[in-house]
Amino acid sequence: MSAAHRRWNLNIHYHRVFLDVVPAGARTALDVGCGDGLLSFELAGRGLDVVGIDPDGPSIERARSDPRSNERTKFFEVDVFEFDLPPASYDLVVANAMLHHVDATAGLRRLRELVKPGGVVAVVGFANADGVKDQVLAVAGATARKLRELRGDYWEHNAPILWPPPMTTSEMRELGRAELPGSTFRRLMSNRFSLVWRAPGRLTHACRATPSDLQRGVPPCRLRPR
Ligand SMILES: C[S@@+](CC[C@H](N)C(=O)[O-])C[C@H]1O[C@@H](n2cnc3c(N)ncnc32)[C@H](O)[C@@H]1O
Repeated sequence: MSAAHRRWNLNIHYHRVFLDVVPAGARTALDVGCGDGLLSFELAGRGLDVVGIDPDGPSIERARSDPRSNERTKFFEVDVFEFDLPPASYDLVVANAMLHHVDATAGLRRLRELVKPGGVVAVVGFANADGVKDQVLAVAGATARKLRELRGDYWEHNAPILWPPPMTTSEMRELGRAELPGSTFRRLMSNRFSLVWRAPGRLTHACRATPSDLQRGVPPCRLRPR
């Protein structure tokens, strides 16, 4: 196994949250705040065409020059609020450790806007601990990290970090209920939570790409059926 594949941190550990909710028949994914692109590569490995976006230029450069970058992965140096995309473009919209960098209400609305009917929005985010369960999970996360450091496979990502998060876990759960009704909320290790929402409707693959999307190489859908 290569050194890159042995990398571990809790952001990587929770890639499973996203991989577990790829909707049946999904073809495309948008990775919002993709950083070095690690989640994008895993989703592409599941056969999805993935667009990773991040306003941080050096992160996008690292993602583009990663040996796993291929025709299924496209990376853009852009803010999610400024990326000019038609609504309902992606089968799966993911954000890992990103939501606390922006206004959470506006962020969830933007993710919801970009997912297709029948598609899935999945978020793993940071929030301030506000109960015993969070505290136990914080200790579990710190222990897992320490063990990985001792084993020598702990890896710190290079993307911008923002701390502390502005909201508590309970506030995030309430916001998830309000903005993504019917979503599933879970408290995770080390001040993290997950929020998973399936958009009402049935996933179809009508192509919504505009000529300017195609010129920029954005694949909101496949152009030819497989
Ligand atoms: C803590 S890093 C996480 C990176 C990556 N998802 C990971 O798990 O390693 C948060 C990322 O969100 C990005 N970000 C912040 N504001 C953003 C915005 N408005 N649109 C898209 N990405 C944003 C930051 O530049 C940063 O790379």
